Amino acid sequence: MEHVAASQPGVLGAFSPGQSPGAAQPTTAGPHEAITVRGVSRFFGTHPAVQNLDLSVPGGTITGLVGPNGAGKTTLLLMLAALLAPDSGTIRVAGLDPVTQAREVHRAVGWMPDAFGTWDSLTCTEILTTFASAQGMSSAEATAQVPRMLATVHLEDMARTPARVLSRGQKQRLGLARALVHSPQVLLLDEPAAGMDPRSRADLRVMLRDLTSAGTTVLVSSHILGELEEMVDGIVVMARGRAVTSGRPQDDQGPSPASPVPVLRTWALRALDHSRLTQWARESGLPVTAWQEDQLRVEVPDDAEAARILRHALEAGVEVVSFAPVTGTLEETYLAMEGERR
Ligand SMILES: Nc1ncnc2c1ncn2[C@@H]1O[C@H](COP(=O)(O)OP(=O)(O)O)[C@@H](O)[C@H]1O
Ligand SMILES: [Mg+2]
Repeated sequence: MEHVAASQPGVLGAFSPGQSPGAAQPTTAGPHEAITVRGVSRFFGTHPAVQNLDLSVPGGTITGLVGPNGAGKTTLLLMLAALLAPDSGTIRVAGLDPVTQAREVHRAVGWMPDAFGTWDSLTCTEILTTFASAQGMSSAEATAQVPRMLATVHLEDMARTPARVLSRGQKQRLGLARALVHSPQVLLLDEPAAGMDPRSRADLRVMLRDLTSAGTTVLVSSHILGELEEMVDGIVVMARGRAVTSGRPQDDQGPSPASPVPVLRTWALRALDHSRLTQWARESGLPVTAWQEDQLRVEVPDDAEAARILRHALEAGVEVVSFAPVTGTLEETYLAMEGERR
């Protein structure tokens, strides 16, 4: 990465929105798709909790599943985890069919429910060990893995503590350790951040990023947008059992599965000399989305690109005073999509 010359013309051209990661997804299942949902419905009585849903989630990414209470998020996640059968449609998770290969899906998937359940009399170690052996791990493997998992979620001091003593946030973290104990390929998290303090949420964010760097795919639900801010690569919005696609209205040319809408973060940059900043922005082809007073705003796909922009600016003699992400961008994406609901 370091060999990219800052003076290279068009070095910032890589920021054009069309080339952002995850922006273009094919409409048919590809090998890079970790989760594929086609025409899936699930009724409770006559009530459609999930309706004719199409969805594609690329591998090695963190996708947020966003929507109000009752949107069908939990129902969808349960079907992906092979814990609830769809009434119709097809699902592939890590290449497996949850309907006919439930056992294999349970091995491939880590599932964190929104409520921890009734394991209150067991200690944290006992709970994780029980899950590890249910996943087919040997007792030697479990003995090595369980303390590692407890350390990962910062519950090592609670190893011998009964789960009933844990706070809600600690139970959430134990639930995460339980979902991860067998090193799953796909991680399904239902409202994981609910009840977590800001520190735990930040830890969760870092942990999920580490997991995706190692190839894990994460689908994480929340009805609170702010919880997912800075955590996800893209979002899928659900409303009334359906995936809401962004931007373009769904066309008539057959099924067009909802792919995660990439979350492009907006960063604000301010410099000592405003005219020098303006000049550099123009010369470098920086895709400025707006000027707000003396700050320019630019969409940045990830931290590495932010670092590149900053280095480029400094090397071009722009005296940068501040360069930081603008918060609330996920909310903007969400509200823009909400407009499509009716
Ligand atoms: N076991 C169930 N029995 C009856 N209705 C259910 C059941 N689970 C979910 N529903 C209904 O299905 C809809 C979607 O629920 P859910 O998937 O839990 O949404 P979300 O997780 O987005 O809040 C809601 O209207 C809910 O009341
Ligand atoms: Mg739910």
